[in-house]
Amino acid sequence: MGYRVAVVGATGAVGREILKTLAEREFPVDDIVALASPRSAGREVSFGNRTLKVQNLETFDFTGWDIGLFSPGGSVSAKYAPIAAKAGCVVIDNTSHFRMEPDVPLVVPEVNPNALKSLKRNIIANPNCSTIQMVVALKPLHDLFTLKRVVVSTYQAVSGAGKDGMDELFAQTRGTFVNDPPKVEQFQKQIAFNCIPQIDRFMDDGATKEEWKMRVETKKILDPDVEVIATCVRVPVFIGHSESIVAEFAEPVDLARAYEALRESEGIVVLDQREDGGYVTPIECVGEDASYVSRLRIDPTVPNGLAFWCVSDNLRKGAALNAVQIAETMIALDLLPVHA
Ligand code: A2P
Repeated sequence: MGYRVAVVGATGAVGREILKTLAEREFPVDDIVALASPRSAGREVSFGNRTLKVQNLETFDFTGWDIGLFSPGGSVSAKYAPIAAKAGCVVIDNTSHFRMEPDVPLVVPEVNPNALKSLKRNIIANPNCSTIQMVVALKPLHDLFTLKRVVVSTYQAVSGAGKDGMDELFAQTRGTFVNDPPKVEQFQKQIAFNCIPQIDRFMDDGATKEEWKMRVETKKILDPDVEVIATCVRVPVFIGHSESIVAEFAEPVDLARAYEALRESEGIVVLDQREDGGYVTPIECVGEDASYVSRLRIDPTVPNGLAFWCVSDNLRKGAALNAVQIAETMIALDLLPVHA
């Protein structure tokens, strides 16, 4: 017995990764449908060794479908997720649209699986990619030493901006060698051979919305008392977000216990050799499930501080994998009844 699964935004960077992840993890699928805009209707996408014909989201009836894995962009989710939810389909939405609504659980299964038990609107939000990998790494440390404050700088891949973002980095990089002037459309400035300290729009206080998301989402998922100041930077990397994280705790920090807790935690791989190349870089985490922790060390500038480097595949744990793990966790907690 399995589930009827709809993948919305199936032609996009995250949608394709969702299909791949479902197939790889042998998610119990009875029936699966790939949905996208009318532009893509009739196109084909892969699901394991099968090919699915893409259908038009606008005319799709969600009645009888158990799970909807959505990544079609915020405005499209805003319109269609409630329609699917009303038809009885449990929506796991990758966009930022519903994340901060109080009656929508925001879930990272390794951190707050029990939030799934308070499902009220049939909609669950998948957190921001940068938030996910950070809270996975911070949770075991918070359990040990009680986290107070985090200073994080991100180095985020262009795939966070979807397929078009990846195409823009490719085109600008190629253009440099064939003397084509760079076309700037997806990002605020040239991204090839550059770094851009802006992801999403500016807020009134001078932070960007991505930085705001890291702060408020961490509070909602991990602990409302934790303070976060983030600087989010787009870098010319296709896949894999990196983060420099400096964390301050209420209780004295013990490095050996921190290593041990991180090593034992679900979803984390510690690779930290304190020698040339003895750390993980984004290119090495592509296609991997874990959040990788490297460069762990005491921050001697505050009483109880730890600094580390954290890398993860933003399309997998940062999006597709976390969404599929949410569905798996719902099944494990007996929250997702199989259709008759
Ligand atoms: P399409 O390929 O038909 O435009 P990405 O984030 O990689 O750009 O992908 C966005 C995904 O969301 C794509 O699958 C895209 O489909 C889909 N999408 C965008 N706009 C709509 C829409 N209005 N209705 C349904 N799907 C949409």
